[in-house]
Amino acid sequence: MNGSRDAAEVRPDRLMRRIDAVVAVSERLARRSARRRPPVAAVHRDLALVVTEVRQEASDVVGVRFARPGGGPLPVWHPGAHLDLVLPSGRVRQYSLCGDPADRAAYRIAVRRIADGAGGSVEVHALPPGTPVTARGPRTAFPLVSEPAYLFLAGGIGITPILPMVRAAAARGADWRLVHTGRDRASLPLTPAATDLDPTRVWLRPDDGHGGPPTAADLLDGLPAGAAIYCCGPPPMIEAVRRAVPAGHAFHAERFSPPLVLGGRPFTVELARRGGTVEVPADGSVLEAVQAVAPDIAFSCRQGFCGTCHVRVLAGQVAGGHSAPGEMALCVARAAGDRVVLDL
Ligand code: FES
Repeated sequence: MNGSRDAAEVRPDRLMRRIDAVVAVSERLARRSARRRPPVAAVHRDLALVVTEVRQEASDVVGVRFARPGGGPLPVWHPGAHLDLVLPSGRVRQYSLCGDPADRAAYRIAVRRIADGAGGSVEVHALPPGTPVTARGPRTAFPLVSEPAYLFLAGGIGITPILPMVRAAAARGADWRLVHTGRDRASLPLTPAATDLDPTRVWLRPDDGHGGPPTAADLLDGLPAGAAIYCCGPPPMIEAVRRAVPAGHAFHAERFSPPLVLGGRPFTVELARRGGTVEVPADGSVLEAVQAVAPDIAFSCRQGFCGTCHVRVLAGQVAGGHSAPGEMALCVARAAGDRVVLDL
């Protein structure tokens, strides 16, 4: 080999030891980087899907399965991901994926029917199999970070993003515990999927069997040492737990309804194109106030991340919300002063 040193000149046993060492180092680096880095959010894209199954998951919850119209694998997703679903009416709604990420043939969601809501859940409950829908995503807004121990807290339909996390924790051999609360046992969706993993790690806690909703102390009872807490449910439950989390525990939460307005101030919104003003109360959102005079105003997530309600600001300063400069997310942002003028 003309003096050049190549693999053929290295003794096979030494070569194998070197390869093993390189593989071990790269695996260590990959594990370390996966632990630090949440899953990368998927790009925006439109997916043509079709409803393939609708089934009752709890007293007022249906589970819906979607697939590609001609079959075939769907884009990868991670626990905590959600889809933007464009319903046949044109409504856009966000739903957490609650199936198994390893099942590339289908996406599954579960939706509680809210009779006096904005209509999205009622429409989902009425979707017959065979209905075509468009989905955008999946996007991961609530990523699961790799930890040795977890406490998962789910309030009612809040189990949907939590369930794939529980599966992932169980598959990794992590120490995990799940508390699933709701008004009564029949209203708790997807419970067999969780209890089948390990019934000794799951506490189903219906309010009617315990004299009312749990306190934060109830939910955090038996918190494993150093466990990360993942919580999804009604805003009061999330806020109560957030305030009670002991030091040394990471807390991650996703709500399925608008955030509570805490410590807000009232202010005035002027609608430049429609004319007139609306008053935003200390504990209400701009979106709710504007809806009272403009019920056709576009919105979707009501949590500040989808961008549907963003509106140009013509005068005044905005506080909060993640919108482009000069815009306001009506669902979560507030005026920094006493008045803001919107291009509405
Ligand atoms: S409704 Fe989604 S950002 Fe406001």
